[in-house]
Amino acid sequence: MEGPVRQFVHDSGQGHLFQWWDELIEAHREALLNQIRDLDFAMIEKAISTFHNGSSQIDFTNLKPAESVQLEGELLQEAKRLGEQAIKERKVCALTLAGGQGTRLGYELPKGVHPIGPVSRKSLFAWFADKIKFFTNRIGTPGSIPWLLMTSHFTDSEIQSFFQHNDFFGLGKENVHFLMQGLLPAVDFQGKLMMDAKHHICENPDGHGGLIRALRKSNLLETMARQGVQYIFIHNVDNCLVKVCDLAFIGNHIASGADFSCKSLAKRSPDETLGTIVDDRGKIRIIEYSDTPQEVACLRDERGQLVYRTGSINIYVIGVDFMQRLCNHSNPLPLHFTSKTIPALDSAGILKTPQKPNGYKLETKLFDILQYTDKAVVVGANRSEEFSPLKHRSGEESYEAVIQDLQALFLSWLEDSGVPINAAEFDKIELSPEFAPDRDSFRERVAAIGKTALSEWIERQIQSNRQIIL
Ligand code: UTP
Repeated sequence: MEGPVRQFVHDSGQGHLFQWWDELIEAHREALLNQIRDLDFAMIEKAISTFHNGSSQIDFTNLKPAESVQLEGELLQEAKRLGEQAIKERKVCALTLAGGQGTRLGYELPKGVHPIGPVSRKSLFAWFADKIKFFTNRIGTPGSIPWLLMTSHFTDSEIQSFFQHNDFFGLGKENVHFLMQGLLPAVDFQGKLMMDAKHHICENPDGHGGLIRALRKSNLLETMARQGVQYIFIHNVDNCLVKVCDLAFIGNHIASGADFSCKSLAKRSPDETLGTIVDDRGKIRIIEYSDTPQEVACLRDERGQLVYRTGSINIYVIGVDFMQRLCNHSNPLPLHFTSKTIPALDSAGILKTPQKPNGYKLETKLFDILQYTDKAVVVGANRSEEFSPLKHRSGEESYEAVIQDLQALFLSWLEDSGVPINAAEFDKIELSPEFAPDRDSFRERVAAIGKTALSEWIERQIQSNRQIIL
């Protein structure tokens, strides 16, 4: 029964997938055949040969750094007004990319479950839910901002149980939607598919570009469109500072008639792992940091600034109609090869976890959808207010670093609102995103409560336990 499949696999140069066939029990044979049938061999073969002959390498000759729009003054006010109106009219949903494996962080649960509230220790998911609640309380109505979460085989059941256990953070089960991304195989440096059991090919989530396939499969895009949603605000699960449903960002997207808007930051160094945003003869593109040649990443202008400094922080607004057009393509996104340490069988059929990279994970990237539109906008972000990712176990972008950034931000909001406090007087501070998710909203809330009342209240908290939680 396996004959034709086996022949096909052999002809594709992947005959080793059957090397343990004779030892396999019937159920495992069936599982292997099913996995092989689900793989798009032609697509994988094409990607491997493009990668091996170097034609996937980026030529920077015709590229220049992308310019970012700074939202200020009247432009900012008008953008906020349009964003607010869109939320009022229930035209916006939020979408969190939560399918990654978080290998660098090494946390045993999905990243979104990780505590982030400096005092409450509430999770990243609860933190984002608070941000959504702020807007549904202030300008919308309960449920007016649906929340979509993209999960993967590695995170789905734990994320769904976490939401159930926490009663969907008060947002209402019917307003939270999960969609699971697909898988892609891993290949070794010779382009051979790797195996992690004698009947199983190594697979990993298909990258955040898997969102397109996941939306198509789940039918959620149609559901959103039917409900009148026109704009999707998308962000990473690990950035607690993201301004979820940022009114000005959404409003600017609407005012510009864009299909795709992304937020940018000036890279701190050539090695900062942000995609490089470039202008390719009038078309915006984002190039993965690992695909940006070192000599290009290090180029500096006469003022000593990095030339290709415009970096993407994976915060987007994407039009539902644009997404619908993409969902009609069968394979809209190219495959990226990322060198990784992949547990795999050795030639004796024993599972080994190597000490250094032994192959490539294949992934798709959401920003590659830019090739399908000329209507893209890049909006400058403010690092200290909007970006502090939780990526590593220690050092930069670790939990400790993120908490420090959060606390520094809260102190500056208090000072800016006329309620300065001395950092030496307390140990921890947390300003709930449900109270105010950003500096301007915080200022407005303080003005409404009154500075004196807030100061006295903070003072009492400091006296009782040296902690402040609002
Ligand atoms: P990263 O590329 O930083 O990956 O993802 P990661 O899984 O968080 O961490 P490492 O690289 O394994 O250490 C950026 C965002 O894209 C999501 C992640 O969950 C994160 O929000 N993502 C990534 C997915 O949703 N699916 C994927 O297949 C990959």
